[in-house]
Amino acid sequence: MRASSLLAVALVSLALAQPYVAPREEDSKKQQFAKLIEEIQADVLKSLDEREETMRKRASKPPAIQGTSSSAERLNYIEAVKCLQKLPARTPQSVAAGAKSRRDVGPAMNARYANYTTVLNLLLKPDIVSYRLLSEGVPYAIEIGPHGGIHYTISGDPAFWVHRGMMDRMWTFWQALDPKKRHFDLSDGNYGHITWANNPPSRKALLSDPINMGYAAESTTIGEVMDTLG
Ligand SMILES: *[C@@H]1O[C@H](CO)[C@@H](O)[C@H](O)[C@H]1NC(C)=O
Repeated sequence: MRASSLLAVALVSLALAQPYVAPREEDSKKQQFAKLIEEIQADVLKSLDEREETMRKRASKPPAIQGTSSSAERLNYIEAVKCLQKLPARTPQSVAAGAKSRRDVGPAMNARYANYTTVLNLLLKPDIVSYRLLSEGVPYAIEIGPHGGIHYTISGDPAFWVHRGMMDRMWTFWQALDPKKRHFDLSDGNYGHITWANNPPSRKALLSDPINMGYAAESTTIGEVMDTLG
């Protein structure tokens, strides 16, 4: 095992052993985050109203914001989550008080990687390169970000989709702070290329580049999925 992995294991074990007490700093970040979200939400709703109005003028339907699952499918999903929640947690309460689902290792990973300080800092990132580095974490380092961090809390659990939803929500709010730029900017950082971390070196990605969705859905383009409300 590499020294960095050992360090990661040691840090995570330490984090799991500590009951989580939110420091006062977190309370103030929580308030700042809530205030910022309130402002952004107003902008997002306004832009949705405007889009709806434009579409009405064109006599087409407004975008469907809710998912496409039927009520029966949604009910199945809710029942699956409830069923998982009833099973005993895999992580003993003595290790992580508050662990609930089969995968939930307790609040430690959330507190460390997806706390209010982090989500507030995420919304304040000036560009997609720094947004990405905080959201996704620094590759091969202990900073695994709110995206990576929560994979340790829920994985393979239907509640995983709530995590995905939150990642999209943060992305949507962050874009709403500068939509003209952020709905189109792929940046020229290392992750703006068509190979992972530009390795092997490749050309920059374009909004018109296709995304092959395989069996999941019809293929689309990067440009089509940049705007989550869209
Ligand atoms: C909150 O998250 C940041 C990483 O974004 C981390 O450095 C900090 O230690 C976390 N705070 C707590 C109380 O764990």
